[in-house]
Amino acid sequence: MSLIQWDEAMSVGMDELDEQHRELIDLLNESYDAIQRHDETLMVLLIDKMRDYSMVHFQAEEAVLRSLGYPDIEAHTKQHRIYADKVDEFRRDMLVRTNLSQVFIFLSRWLTNHIMHEDRKFIPWLPETDDEGA
Ligand SMILES: [Fe+2]
Repeated sequence: MSLIQWDEAMSVGMDELDEQHRELIDLLNESYDAIQRHDETLMVLLIDKMRDYSMVHFQAEEAVLRSLGYPDIEAHTKQHRIYADKVDEFRRDMLVRTNLSQVFIFLSRWLTNHIMHEDRKFIPWLPETDDEGA
């Protein structure tokens, strides 16, 4: 079973970022799955992939926010860093942890909350698209 699922309510109004959020959610779900199946090799592989992809995504999102002149970029960037640090910390001692599933539940809640409540705050700064103006 999936840990989280992307839905329209999580859209930040920009295809590129929505696509990246979906990919991040997929990676979280796949990693969680590997944990449930106690597949350590796959776990390590997927978590590294998720960590790398988080960095790529955060950088892309921060570049968008900068280009929009989004005023809260500093606080937003700090939140990304907290998540990245959490994933790093988890990655470092994942093989000696016993509560892997809980860590993933925490990460997925954090990500859902961040997308719904922090990322969606920049929607008013996005340039209007055709369907919005119609
Ligand atoms: Fe964000």
